Amino acid sequence: MRLGIIGAGAVAPLHAHGTAVLDGMELAAVCDLKIEVAAAVAAPWGAAVYTDYRRMLADRAVDAVVINTPHSLHKDMVLAAAAHGVHVLVEKPMATTLADCDAMEAACAEAGVVLVVGMIQHFMAEKLAIRSALETGELGRVLMIHDYRSTDYRPGTRPDWFFDPAISGGGAFINIGAHCLDRSLWLGGAPAVRIAARTLNRFGAPVETDGTMELELANGVPLRITIVSDAPRHIDEILVVCENGTVTADPRTGTFVKIDGHLTQVHARSSGDIQDAFTAQLADFAAAVRGANPSVDAAHARHVVELVLAAYESAGTGTAVELVGTAAVPG
Ligand SMILES: NC(=O)c1ccc[n+]([C@@H]2O[C@H](COP(=O)([O-])OP(=O)(O)OC[C@H]3O[C@@H](n4cnc5c(N)ncnc54)[C@H](O)[C@@H]3O)[C@@H](O)[C@H]2O)c1
Repeated sequence: MRLGIIGAGAVAPLHAHGTAVLDGMELAAVCDLKIEVAAAVAAPWGAAVYTDYRRMLADRAVDAVVINTPHSLHKDMVLAAAAHGVHVLVEKPMATTLADCDAMEAACAEAGVVLVVGMIQHFMAEKLAIRSALETGELGRVLMIHDYRSTDYRPGTRPDWFFDPAISGGGAFINIGAHCLDRSLWLGGAPAVRIAARTLNRFGAPVETDGTMELELANGVPLRITIVSDAPRHIDEILVVCENGTVTADPRTGTFVKIDGHLTQVHARSSGDIQDAFTAQLADFAAAVRGANPSVDAAHARHVVELVLAAYESAGTGTAVELVGTAAVPG
């Protein structure tokens, strides 16, 4: 499979490296508006360099693409890839509107190409260790989840488009909250039926810099997500409270289970965890192109966008938003 990358930003080198090490896959082309940025990602692997993704598609240079660009651009790029019969792995968040999500799914289905959304949390070793701990049954049923992430939404700390709602779709929630919603619903085992949210716009930022989301899942599990900018220390922690104990994970330390006062480390952080997750995600994508079911259904990725938009509505009106709760949660 000849893979192309559109958008050579933060995680493009991780996608590129994963492509290069997987059997049956080669990094054929990298496209970015900035030629030097594309060239820097392409060079180690001898891939072609483009500045116009439509040209890359028209040249028949790739069989599949990773779309790794600003959020509101995802839809047109997915539609263009589908029109050329090219399979797609699009970075999170799937899009900035549900209409765009639906158009992307419809175009790929009609073209007969695979559409996978890059929900990397499902491939992170410390989250998979939570999943395994829950699956042993020793912890019992999930009763409550708290997900707590720090970020930095001070203007100037990241590319300007993140602060333009027309391009980004929002701030800390749609970017960082998308990861929290994804992993919490997955580990909680059900879609959400209710969400209430509060947002803060600090530092004069035009998008939210911090906020809390309180959700109820269709199986009754309550979930609280807190996202804070410029916190005194880095935080990336999910805590799952179960009938017989608790389990928590942080990519900087690992995964820990506590049952009746007894603490066990079930995953220890390794320096290769992040690259391994991106490689595993690509392998999952390649398997989907060969006909397997992907680990993360597009309906789940769409539900994450639905919840971010509902969180913005709730924060705006000051009231909770009820949802139908029928989206599939990946098993
Ligand atoms: N999975 C993860 O952990 C993770 C981490 C970071 C970012 N992301 C996602 O990756 C995507 C990109 O974010 P980023 O942080 O890399 O942003 P970025 O601004 O660093 O990189 C985006 C790149 O896209 C390029 N670009 C913009 N328009 C283009 C066009 N029309 N054609 C070709 N290239 C174009 C820009 O020049 C830029 O180099 C977003 O969806 C973001 O949410 C995911």
